[in-house]
Amino acid sequence: MIVISFPSAADVGEGIAKELGTRHYVVTHKVFPDGESYVRIEAPVKGEEVMLVQKTYPCQDKRLMELLIAVDALKAKGASKVVVVLPYLAYARQDREFLEGEGVSVRTVLRALRTAGADGLYVVDVHKAESLKFFEGPARNLIAAGTWANALSQEGIRSPLIIAPDVGASRRAKALSKKLGCEYLIIKKVRDRVTGEIRHELPSDLHLASTDVVVVDDIISTGGTVSNVAKYVKERGARRVFVVASHGLFVGNAKRRIKEAGVDRVIILNTTALKIVDPIVRYEDVSAELSRFISNNPL
Ligand code: R5P
Repeated sequence: MIVISFPSAADVGEGIAKELGTRHYVVTHKVFPDGESYVRIEAPVKGEEVMLVQKTYPCQDKRLMELLIAVDALKAKGASKVVVVLPYLAYARQDREFLEGEGVSVRTVLRALRTAGADGLYVVDVHKAESLKFFEGPARNLIAAGTWANALSQEGIRSPLIIAPDVGASRRAKALSKKLGCEYLIIKKVRDRVTGEIRHELPSDLHLASTDVVVVDDIISTGGTVSNVAKYVKERGARRVFVVASHGLFVGNAKRRIKEAGVDRVIILNTTALKIVDPIVRYEDVSAELSRFISNNPL
């Protein structure tokens, strides 16, 4: 087995190859003058099982298109098996038809990957684990709670209250609370499907004096979700508020919004190619936990 990654995913690709004790190559990639992507596989892949790593943010459309071209090229070059590793699966939040006639983008993407020739799939913290059924092949999802827990311990967070900002985040909250041995709380979030506005339904009897709070979510996009909860827990007396998430998209003024809400630290995994440089944001490398997960969950 060998690992091949796109340039922006080379950190994770290299990390996985090192942990699995195998070779790592990088896809040759450039952009034609008209904006189309060029992909070339120079690694010797004939008869090999290949693990192909790609980060699908920023520029989701381009990154996904390149990925499809690479999977197809690997198969054409004689790879015996192509397993795609996506630290972040873009287009995963539209996982059903919320309004009549809407496209279900996660289904489109996963079907396209399978059709291009992907034999298996590993993802980190897909928005909803059930969506992986659309791949119609072996697929596994990792919630990297061990990596979050280590970082929180290093930050001196001992027994916080973990908050899931919506029902969808409850699996993450559960996994993290198990690692840290502490309590978690699930808060209900209501999103207006047309305006995108969100509001939280919060318990009135929650007192947080001297309590550290960790808000856990899969994605920080506009920062609206975690900021809302952070403001609320600060008002209730929380001492420190940490946010942990898998994917930091930081759209628009997300960073400012999070700071203004009183968040002390954001812990994010290196699942996207975006790198925010700010003392409030701490990146953690997911490669080691992902490699262990891959070894323990063969496809
Ligand atoms: C939504 O269900 C997701 O789990 C995240 O809570 C959401 O996508 C975060 O987006 P934003 O940062 O824009 O609130």
